[in-house]
Amino acid sequence: MGKIILTGDRPTGRLHIGHYVGSLRRRVELQNSGEFEKIFIMIADAQALTDNFDNPEKVRENIIEVALDYLSAGLDPEKSTIFIQSQIPELFEITSYYMNFVTVSRLQRNPTIKSEIQMRGFETSIPVGFLSYPVSQATDITAFRANLVPVGEDQEPMLEQTREIVHKFNSVYGETLVMPEIMLPDNQACMRLPGIDGGAKMSKSLNNCIYLADTKEEVQKKIRSMFTDPNHLRVEDPGRTEGNPVFIYLEAFATDEHFAKYWPDYANLDELKAHYERGGLGDVKVKKFLNRVLEDTLEPIRARRAEYEKDIAGVYDILKEGTRKAREMAAETLAMVKGAMKIDYFNDPELVARHQEKYGN
Ligand code: TRP
Repeated sequence: MGKIILTGDRPTGRLHIGHYVGSLRRRVELQNSGEFEKIFIMIADAQALTDNFDNPEKVRENIIEVALDYLSAGLDPEKSTIFIQSQIPELFEITSYYMNFVTVSRLQRNPTIKSEIQMRGFETSIPVGFLSYPVSQATDITAFRANLVPVGEDQEPMLEQTREIVHKFNSVYGETLVMPEIMLPDNQACMRLPGIDGGAKMSKSLNNCIYLADTKEEVQKKIRSMFTDPNHLRVEDPGRTEGNPVFIYLEAFATDEHFAKYWPDYANLDELKAHYERGGLGDVKVKKFLNRVLEDTLEPIRARRAEYEKDIAGVYDILKEGTRKAREMAAETLAMVKGAMKIDYFNDPELVARHQEKYGN
């Protein structure tokens, strides 16, 4: 059997360039490699509700935004199945059986959960739905029998928990579930793109993101305002490239071809960095180059978005059809799970025959 990919995002806001280099770009490459039998891309609305249950409008409004971002980034509904988590009831049924294999203390030790509990001030009263979302994520992955899960490093603990659940389930009930592997971004800069303010992470609440849906003017303005090396005051001063978001973005986006095309004074990023560190290179020039490089990526995305925005009903149809296909697969896996767990009473004529015999009829 061919390889299967599953990954997804919570619909809590538009996707930004951190999402793009952290996972979207790779998904599109994997999709176009033709090496995978199936690719599932999930809009994780039920997971988003675990910490936004009091704000369902936010989740509802962002489903279309995320779908538009996916399609404009190059995910092709002919090749990738894009679907909505909450519309597949089989997922919730599977999750309830996996819960038997997970302890509360194990969930509390999950590093992602631990830091999210702190961030949200849940320490004294943790909603069960929130605490158990890693179990539901294990279902997301296994219901589609995914071998490969391309995600950012913040999802590593989720994959670890999923693998534990798969291992336990298979040891107790026999080989049923597929053991998934994580696929992390291959470039350090792509692991976690900082915000334009130099903050550790791009985050909507910090207002430091460049969104895929930003206009050319918005992107230009954001790049102009970007934090660089605060000690690089005059052009002649030596500058720091390490931890300098402008250079981190270049690491994530700039290729040697970009240099050949837009800034042939340098053959590659190493040469540019060396000059900046020596001194004599101003931020404005580097930012202009970054703007060109980013536009090379963002312009085609913007153009595709504009096309899809003209046919929103069509985008909802894509989601509906994707969800229908995904549900078929989840239902198959649920049947396998129930079979393995011996709770398939009405699909097992032998069981009836054996009990008939036991009672002499
Ligand atoms: N937890 C992921 C996020 O916050 C979203 C997600 C839900 C996911 N289910 C998944 C990712 C399954 C990969 C596989 O972005």
